Amino acid sequence: MPPTNTQVLFRRQPQGLPTEDDFEIVETPMPEPGPGQFVAKSLYLSLDPYMRMLMGGGWKFLGTGMTQGQVMVGRILGEVIESGHPDLKPGDHIVGRLGWQEYAVSNGADLDFKVEPKEGMPLTAYMGVCGSNGTTAWAGLKMIGKPKEGETVLVSAAAGSVGSAVGQIAKAMGCRAVGIAGGTEKCRLVTEEFNFDACLDYKGGDLGRQIKDAAPDGIDVYFDNVGGEMLDTVLALMNAKGRIPVCGVLSQYNAEDDYYGVTNTRLIFDKQLRLQGFLNSEFRDQWDRARAELEDLVASGKLKYRETVAQGLKSAPQAFIGMLRGENLGKQLVKLT
Ligand SMILES: NC(=O)c1ccc[n+]([C@@H]2O[C@H](COP(=O)([O-])OP(=O)(O)OC[C@H]3O[C@@H](n4cnc5c(N)ncnc54)[C@H](OP(=O)(O)O)[C@@H]3O)[C@@H](O)[C@H]2O)c1
Repeated sequence: MPPTNTQVLFRRQPQGLPTEDDFEIVETPMPEPGPGQFVAKSLYLSLDPYMRMLMGGGWKFLGTGMTQGQVMVGRILGEVIESGHPDLKPGDHIVGRLGWQEYAVSNGADLDFKVEPKEGMPLTAYMGVCGSNGTTAWAGLKMIGKPKEGETVLVSAAAGSVGSAVGQIAKAMGCRAVGIAGGTEKCRLVTEEFNFDACLDYKGGDLGRQIKDAAPDGIDVYFDNVGGEMLDTVLALMNAKGRIPVCGVLSQYNAEDDYYGVTNTRLIFDKQLRLQGFLNSEFRDQWDRARAELEDLVASGKLKYRETVAQGLKSAPQAFIGMLRGENLGKQLVKLT
């Protein structure tokens, strides 16, 4: 039997939290490269909340970003096994948006970067802390949040890949870092391993009170990964001229009929706040610089990270659902065999 390519396809728009039936796993023939193209074998797949937006339903404004039967969109860490591409040779490692599949053909248009690891850095770091999650944290905090030494930075989804990096970068800039995460185990990880000054359990009741206790002088930068009700709570506790980089809306990705409208937006005027949504891709010209800084922070021990790794491509739908339910610590990856 000739080798086949296992792929995970987008089957249908989920109702609320996805189920495994929203995906389809198929075996297809191995892809053949055309002129100028390369074939990559996927070693790891990155699972990210934005994929839920692309599946539609919870993302009221854009509709689905995928069509039925399409290979699920996603980043992989791959090894080049065949190449007619001028800049790549077999054995090179790449990070690119090549989808939930074992093998992919590309002309390079969907590449993020060729991985040239700093000494001692594991390849998987380039899927999280030194990859798109790390550069997202770096860009949102430094380019939009612009924290000054001594200021207080609050970040939601703080035990996750982006959030854990935000707080540690803030600490390295001389700020006080306060995280918000779901549950005592995650909060312990955030303070004990990621070295935040405090972490608040949003499932533990009265988040506003907890924030006031942990940051009695108010919040200067809120790195918002969650949106919704949590944003309402934090708006009331921002200091004048505070900055809010809006990185994502985790509370809304699975929302169906209960889209949450932030109620106290007049505080943005009253306190002269700056609230700015952003995409990591806007800062592409900064990625090399950001990655170099992130590598240095990891090497110096100032930036720690965790990975949750599911085994085998067929486990990807279940791992993705688990991540949306908060079952991951740090970066959610799938290791392909
Ligand atoms: N703007 C960009 O270009 C860009 C790029 C990458 C990522 N992002 C965004 O960054 C955020 C973090 O992404 P990530 O990849 O690092 O994922 P992550 O934080 O590692 O994983 C998702 C986490 O979200 C939390 N969560 C899920 N539902 C929630 C809810 N209703 N309320 C509060 N928290 C909830 C869960 O943690 P708990 O157990 O703590 O609830 C879960 O572990 C997401 O909003 C994502 O869309 C944006």
